[in-house]
Amino acid sequence: MISSIRNGTPREQGARVSHVPVSVPQEEAAKISIRNLTKTFLTRDRIFTAVDDISLEIQAGTFFMIVGPSGCGKTTLLRIVAGLEKHTSGSVEVVHSHPGCPGNSMVFQGDSIFPWMTVWDNAAYGLKMRNVPKRQIRETVGHYLDRTGLTKFANAYPHQLSGGMKQRVSIARAFANDPEVLLMDEPFSALDEQNKTLLQEELLRIWDETKKTVLFITHSVDEAVTLGDKIMVMTAHPGRTKAIVDVPFARPRSVLELRATPQYGELVYKIWGYLREEVQHAKADAEGNA
Ligand SMILES: Nc1ncnc2c1ncn2[C@@H]1O[C@H](COP(=O)(O)OP(=O)(O)O)[C@@H](O)[C@H]1O
Ligand SMILES: [Mg+2]
Repeated sequence: MISSIRNGTPREQGARVSHVPVSVPQEEAAKISIRNLTKTFLTRDRIFTAVDDISLEIQAGTFFMIVGPSGCGKTTLLRIVAGLEKHTSGSVEVVHSHPGCPGNSMVFQGDSIFPWMTVWDNAAYGLKMRNVPKRQIRETVGHYLDRTGLTKFANAYPHQLSGGMKQRVSIARAFANDPEVLLMDEPFSALDEQNKTLLQEELLRIWDETKKTVLFITHSVDEAVTLGDKIMVMTAHPGRTKAIVDVPFARPRSVLELRATPQYGELVYKIWGYLREEVQHAKADAEGNA
């Protein structure tokens, strides 16, 4: 099935989500197809273009990174793919290959777990909502709590956990939910450097088991090169595609070993070459508006 969110007219009409049969073999179809996507916000005194004519094909099983300066439209783009935000024109399609599985699971930067639920109940939430058999919930949640180092904290509440642990709960919940695509919006950006590295390692390990299609947003070039198969660099406002770059590094990856290679440094340098000017534009914009 394809979940399709299209708007054909330049004015916002509300996202239309429809399901149509897949007419091409699954392995040839992109998992996420974004075509000429534009999003404008109507503010008090002007029309503000946040995302401008972005087209993108993301194949199934790709760890796809989007990197861009603050305010360039990354979150807006992700929210449109998640169906949380209406777009103004263009289309977004996500192929559904597993009936009964959710279209997507999101992991955000801040607290996105329920404070009144234990770690276990948070991780099990999506499965319980879908009435998955209890035994399967026990196995799946047990597995992902183990993979994220949370087994001992299964009965703890979020206020008893550090920021890194809470993000682990979010990750366990997202993978346990077994979505068609995983959408991650700067999930590690509030963490200190050491915790961030540990969580990146853990995410890579878990992802290697599942090879889910991931759309991961970051403002960190290091993070993009460490995790991704492909990186889209966005321009500063309005958010357009500046470049799409392949990441050639073999998997499984060890974050620290990868970062010690000259090839890693060269790719970071190359991406910064695209990004530097955009960051300067974003800074000048912010200062102009201050
Ligand atoms: N609901 C909204 N109304 C008006 N402007 C918005 C709204 N949401 C986001 N924006 C603006 O759109 C631009 C892109 O925002 P966002 O997607 O959050 O950027 P990023 O995630 O790349 O930092 C920003 O300038 C932001 O202020
Ligand atoms: Mg954002």
